[in-house]
Amino acid sequence: MCGIVGYVGPRQAAPLLLEGLHRLEYRGYDSAGIAVQRNGKIELRKKAGRVSELERLVKSRAVSGSLGIGHTRWATHGGVTDDNSHPHVGGNGEVVLVHNGVIENYAALRSHLTTKGYVFRSATDTEAVAHLVADCLDELTRLGEDPSSDATCVKAVTTALPNLKGTYGLAIVFRDCPGLLVAVRNGSPLVIGVGEDEHFVASDASPLVGHTDQVVYLADHEMAILRADEFTLIHRDSGVMTPDVRVLEHVPGEADLNGFPHYMLKEIYEQPQTIENALRGRIDEDEATAKFGGLNISTQDLRRIDRIVLTACGTSWHAALVGEYLLEEFARIPTEVEYASELRYRNPPMSDRTMVFAITQSGETADTLAAMRECKRKGQPTLAICNTVGSTIAREADGGIYLHAGQEIGVASTKAFTSQVTVLTLLALYLGRMRHLSEPAGRRLIGYLKEMPRIVERTLQCHDRVREVAEKYHEANNVLYMGRLYNFPVALEGALKLKEISYIHAEGYPAAEMKHGPIALVDPNTPSVFITPHCHIYPKVMSNIEEVKARGGPVIAIACEGDEKIASIADDVIYVPDVEEYLQPIVTAIPLQLFSYHCALLRGCNVDRPRNLAKSVTVE
Ligand code: M6R
Repeated sequence: MCGIVGYVGPRQAAPLLLEGLHRLEYRGYDSAGIAVQRNGKIELRKKAGRVSELERLVKSRAVSGSLGIGHTRWATHGGVTDDNSHPHVGGNGEVVLVHNGVIENYAALRSHLTTKGYVFRSATDTEAVAHLVADCLDELTRLGEDPSSDATCVKAVTTALPNLKGTYGLAIVFRDCPGLLVAVRNGSPLVIGVGEDEHFVASDASPLVGHTDQVVYLADHEMAILRADEFTLIHRDSGVMTPDVRVLEHVPGEADLNGFPHYMLKEIYEQPQTIENALRGRIDEDEATAKFGGLNISTQDLRRIDRIVLTACGTSWHAALVGEYLLEEFARIPTEVEYASELRYRNPPMSDRTMVFAITQSGETADTLAAMRECKRKGQPTLAICNTVGSTIAREADGGIYLHAGQEIGVASTKAFTSQVTVLTLLALYLGRMRHLSEPAGRRLIGYLKEMPRIVERTLQCHDRVREVAEKYHEANNVLYMGRLYNFPVALEGALKLKEISYIHAEGYPAAEMKHGPIALVDPNTPSVFITPHCHIYPKVMSNIEEVKARGGPVIAIACEGDEKIASIADDVIYVPDVEEYLQPIVTAIPLQLFSYHCALLRGCNVDRPRNLAKSVTVE
């Protein structure tokens, strides 16, 4: 949450910062701002609202200079106002900084600094950091150090940091020290871009694309001291380090809309390809199993595993639930799914035979990262199923599996979900074939999996029908989603999609649980979406549908092509291709993604930038 960008080099900073902020806007879009240093002055432009509004402001009041920092905000402390927008100013303007993270002891810092005479202009936690660094700089100056030297400014930062409790990625500039940009990380991601006589800092690599492909990912407690032609990397404990410069992998055009009106729709339509990518090179036809390059764990150790914990948040947590069913069915390994936000503070018994998978699209979700670290600390082998190459979780895990789904920009996760389920199916096959799963069963599963890209392509043909159904139901205030077995997590996912982008209240339930409470919500104005493709308890789901119909509730069914029976019971049916039960989530999720998309459009909501949300949740 919140996006940071910084630049120092020969070019004008403002256009680069604005371009970078546009690319980072998915991380938060409550307000945006930049600060540019020139001739012993730092000029600020900041504004509540989208980056495009900041851009208009900068057009009307230009700023020039070749060192600057920028920020796009997802509000944590303090409302969405111009004053609370970053950058924030410390002291009398000697220090200006942008921040991603949460300073937990900001109230104490604020009162301490207020007593010392510092004047707060915002309600943010960040402003306390700006004043604190300014205070440390002031103290050093009074002791005779030169505030225009890099050494003094860096010392001011290193003196301030131990007083901060919480998480931060900071980019800092100093009024009296021209050309110096300092970036420091503890818990919030930062990447340095190394160009020719220029350096960048950003929350992720997207602002660097087209400018440099040489990147250095900062680890916690690392500080980058940047000038146009200098880069010093310092670790809090180990001192000066040699930067590990990596080459940024980038697919040209990945961030383009390619003719689609929204990223969400584009990403929904990418799914045949992203599923193909998740499967590519991972099928071992000879042994009728899967293969993975980066698990970093021996077959012998994998055979010892007697329990799996899958931890994640949001949509990734729903994919994990599908994973639980798959792993228990095919690998026969007891599997639990834990909300990362709970696991990080719980202390469940685990042994060295428990394997933990952190599942995450972004690889930066704060709770998932913290849960993974907690498990690592206790000695569990900890792996990641992750989409974003080079992300913190991908780097810190002992090993893992990439989704290769390409950048997901729409805040509502779509293609990542189906890729996660695809990878979890491969994992269940792989672990299963080491244990009880027979060769013919493995071969059958592989045959079905290989068909999935084509089947998903065909599933997308339901789009027009979904649009019609959305037109009929988009004014509902409440929607229930119900499914059983593999389609129970899909019910949860369908409800989450609808809530987050169309702001319609929705609940997902295992269909049979309905009788234990939610059925009280059924009335003629509350549609129930039943995910009911063929499965071995199909008749039971039919009974659940009858129970809703008997109480006057409208029913939308997601059913298999050729299922005529359902058409006589449900009010509206959306047909999808018939696949094996365990592969159904990959198919049935798609009409629900499209349904939420169209409901949101019809209700005039911003599909790619839903209110109050951000793509990457890097705060607790
Ligand atoms: O990047 P992650 O997969 O770790 O993100 C987890 C959730 O924040 C994310 O899935 C969120 O729930 C999405 N907005 C859902 O569409």
